[in-house]
Amino acid sequence: MKDEDYKGVYYSEYLQLDKILDAQAPESAKKGEEAHDEMLFIIIHQSYELWFKQILHEVGSVMTFFEKTKIDDSSPDLAQAVHRLERVVTILTALVKQIDIIETLTPLDFLDYRDNLRPASGFQSMQFKILEASLGLRMPERYGKKYYTSALKDSDRIIIEELEKKPKFIDLINDWLERMPFWEDNKYWQDYQRKFDYNVEEGVHDFWQDYLCTYKESLGENEKDNIKGLVSVCFKDDAEKENRLSAKASRNALFILLYRDYPLLQAPYQVLQNLLDIDEQMSLWRFRHINMVRRMIGGRVGTGGSTGKDYLMEALNKHYIFKEIANLTSFLIERRRLPELCPKLIKAMSFG
Ligand code: HEM
Repeated sequence: MKDEDYKGVYYSEYLQLDKILDAQAPESAKKGEEAHDEMLFIIIHQSYELWFKQILHEVGSVMTFFEKTKIDDSSPDLAQAVHRLERVVTILTALVKQIDIIETLTPLDFLDYRDNLRPASGFQSMQFKILEASLGLRMPERYGKKYYTSALKDSDRIIIEELEKKPKFIDLINDWLERMPFWEDNKYWQDYQRKFDYNVEEGVHDFWQDYLCTYKESLGENEKDNIKGLVSVCFKDDAEKENRLSAKASRNALFILLYRDYPLLQAPYQVLQNLLDIDEQMSLWRFRHINMVRRMIGGRVGTGGSTGKDYLMEALNKHYIFKEIANLTSFLIERRRLPELCPKLIKAMSFG
């Protein structure tokens, strides 16, 4: 077919392949002789960046659902949020696996062009940093802030600093959890029968009093202090505490984890699960990246100027974003010990 006879969308134009496929310019070629493996190095980074773009697209859209002052638990919004978060998890899983590809690069082959790359580094990946900041990683919690500010151009650093001032996904999740219904309205609790005749903490809802007692009695000798942890996380809002979830949000999240088998709590439970999956996949990626770095450059400093694998190991340990949600599992009890809910509440949490 003649070019001018072709009508409609054309594959390569639609995908703008001329731009994408013309965007690999190995530094080694500019310096004289092209190092064979630099192409792989560029393409793997570019494909990561494309997937980061997709992840940001999904996370951004999910955040707009949660920015609403009301998000109905049985609404399409919540189902879509779950679906998109699952997609993010699936992409991240593929990104962890893609470390296999970069691992086909050997240290000697990498050395052929590594010095040309200084001071560039994955450390300067804006999309990666935007993702961390959008999800909820805050500057004071970042390990190695000095590398962070020295490695980025001011224009990029300002973008991240501005982003960190805005509500992050973890903040929106906090507000959503705080809004969980069922507690303000006594109609769901007026028939509630208290099981225990003592209080662990004063001024707490009858249901939670029973929960605290049950939890306390379930603890083994060497974990008796866990009760203090539960009280502190779920019933005390202390400005000193560095918890990203308020006591109310933590309590409601715990309730979702405990009673997740009721239909209305299924989607909220899946939201929480997906957040933990995101953290897990990101940490798996960090871990595989570290192991790859260890093999590739040993104890040398990174091209971005950090201490290399030691920096990365600290970032792995410190940069979990949804750790407060993961930590709530310390406060679970067995299903058979769960306080019995009133029929009205059970009905409200069921379909039909
Ligand atoms: C030969 C392969 C690679 C080596 C030797 C390597 C090495 C390093 C090192 C040493 C750092 C710490 C910062 C520095 O001082 O430079 C780093 C950070 C980073 N790299 Fe790589 N990297 C490689 C491949 C990749 C790939 C394929 C990606 C995909 C996007 C990537 C993304 C990142 C990111 C996002 C960071 C920042 C991590 C953080 O701050 O927690 N790296 N890399």
